[in-house]
Amino acid sequence: MSAANNFRRTLPALFLLCFLSLFSGVYTDELQILLKLKSTLLQNSDTHVFNSWEPTRPFCEFDGITCNSDGSVTVIELSHKNLSGFLPLDSICQLQSLEKLSLGFNTLHGTIMEDLRNCTKLKYLDLGNNIFNGPVPDMTSLGDLQYLSLNNSGFSGIFPWKSIVNMTGLIRLSLGDNPFEPVPFPQEVVKLKKLNWLYLSNCRMEGTIPAEIGDLTELINFEISDNNMSGEIPKEIGKLKKLWQFELYNNSFTGKLPFGLRNLTNLEYFDASMNNIEGDLSEVRFLTNLVSLQLFSNNLSGQIPAELGEFKQLVNLSLYANNLTGPLPQNIGSWAEFNFIDVSENFLTGPIPPNMCKRGR
Ligand SMILES: *[C@@H]1O[C@H](CO)[C@@H](O)[C@H](O)[C@H]1NC(C)=O
Ligand SMILES: *[C@@H]1O[C@H](CO)[C@@H](O)[C@H](O)[C@H]1NC(C)=O
Ligand SMILES: *[C@@H]1O[C@H](CO)[C@@H](O)[C@H](O)[C@H]1NC(C)=O
Ligand SMILES: *[C@@H]1O[C@H](CO)[C@@H](O)[C@H](O)[C@H]1NC(C)=O
Ligand SMILES: *[C@@H]1O[C@H](CO)[C@@H](O)[C@H](O)[C@H]1NC(C)=O
Ligand SMILES: *[C@@H]1O[C@H](CO)[C@@H](O)[C@H](O)[C@H]1NC(C)=O
Ligand SMILES: *[C@@H]1O[C@H](CO)[C@@H](O)[C@H](O)[C@H]1NC(C)=O
Ligand SMILES: *[C@@H]1O[C@H](CO)[C@@H](O)[C@H](O)[C@H]1NC(C)=O
Ligand SMILES: *[C@@H]1O[C@H](CO)[C@@H](O)[C@H](O)[C@H]1NC(C)=O
Ligand SMILES: *[C@@H]1O[C@H](CO)[C@@H](O)[C@H](O)[C@H]1NC(C)=O
Repeated sequence: MSAANNFRRTLPALFLLCFLSLFSGVYTDELQILLKLKSTLLQNSDTHVFNSWEPTRPFCEFDGITCNSDGSVTVIELSHKNLSGFLPLDSICQLQSLEKLSLGFNTLHGTIMEDLRNCTKLKYLDLGNNIFNGPVPDMTSLGDLQYLSLNNSGFSGIFPWKSIVNMTGLIRLSLGDNPFEPVPFPQEVVKLKKLNWLYLSNCRMEGTIPAEIGDLTELINFEISDNNMSGEIPKEIGKLKKLWQFELYNNSFTGKLPFGLRNLTNLEYFDASMNNIEGDLSEVRFLTNLVSLQLFSNNLSGQIPAELGEFKQLVNLSLYANNLTGPLPQNIGSWAEFNFIDVSENFLTGPIPPNMCKRGR
């Protein structure tokens, strides 16, 4: 057989081989990426999660890994797994189909580098509750994100607020409990019309809540406590009809509880304690689903509305250190398993409600 003949016969085979390895190459790479993740984190972690991460097994069957029908990794779910060490995002973000990266509640450390930019398919990113440091890098290329949790994770510097403008599908934004540089409440946030969860407590927010907050009509949770915010609570808050929890304690808010608050009839948890809020409690009369009402250490005056005595779910009530007058509603505590009441340091008069402790809680 001539060399030419031989070549002609092996060419298709060679071609096929190249073709195949081109495909399986992607998967070999994905296996290598996962094994690198394992070896990087295993050195420092006391975890069992990598026991199933053996090269002899299909990596789509590794604990915490999910693949699409093409056999490419879409999900890394390794939250609450005792993971410590430095996160090799440079290789993780080479996973072409990665949509969910969930690493919350571990002790991962180090700085999050620009490598994150290559994770362009991500819809879900949770790096919260770790011990990272340094700033959060630009994330403009992560325009598909729907869930972003970076709370309580040691991030500092100025958060890249411009990046979130591109995340028009964002549903959840949790950035609280990080020592960021002080900034005014970012206007970029009120453009995210699909947000239903906004957690910005204890992350050095300043300035006022913009009136446009009323555009975020999907919000069910809005938390901005333990910051240095001031000004009045905008009346546009009244447009957030789905709001279930509203927490703004320990700031310097002034003015009255806004006219319109009364419309938040789905509100169950409301805490505006430790501010300089004045005026009376008349707006609260309509919030019949309240479970917990905390307004202590303000400058509220007038009487406690009789309607509070009829709130069927109310179990916690803290109104101490205000200027309230008159009697307590006599039915208070007779409906639900009343848990906590403190109305001290006011100018209240009249009898103690007779049924307040009848459920023995
Ligand atoms: C994490 O550590 C705890 C206590 O050491 C252990 O009980 C648990 O199984 C560990 N979890 C994993 C996923 O390894
Ligand atoms: C993104 O990945 C490419 C290779 O696919 C690499 O050349 C580039 O440096 C990466 N960019 C960042 C910011 O990591
Ligand atoms: C903080 O982040 C964790 C995930 O790391 C998330 O489950 C939790 O809901 C976040 N907390 C708030 C108040 O958003
Ligand atoms: C914004 O996100 C889209 C994907 O949703 C992306 O195509 C675009 O490049 C992003 N813009 C910037 C400035 O990165
Ligand atoms: C109030 O918030 C500040 C941060 O703005 C914090 O340092 C302080 O401990 C908080 N006070 C209380 C009583 O929680
Ligand atoms: C709070 O914000 C005001 C400006 O509104 C500023 O003067 C003050 O220094 C800030 N306080 C803290 C503790 O950052
Ligand atoms: C409360 O909601 C009703 C019905 O949507 C609306 O007509 C009214 O203007 C709202 N009131 C305030 C004070 O926002
Ligand atoms: C409380 O309100 C009263 C009456 O509006 C006002 O005179 C007083 O200065 C306020 N006190 C504080 C601590 O804001
Ligand atoms: C109660 O009101 C008086 C006068 O209206 C005011 O001087 C005082 O500061 C108020 N107390 C509180 C706790 O705001
Ligand atoms: C009521 O307050 C108590 C004591 O602060 C707390 O332990 C409990 O979880 C609260 N219950 C609700 C439903 O908020």
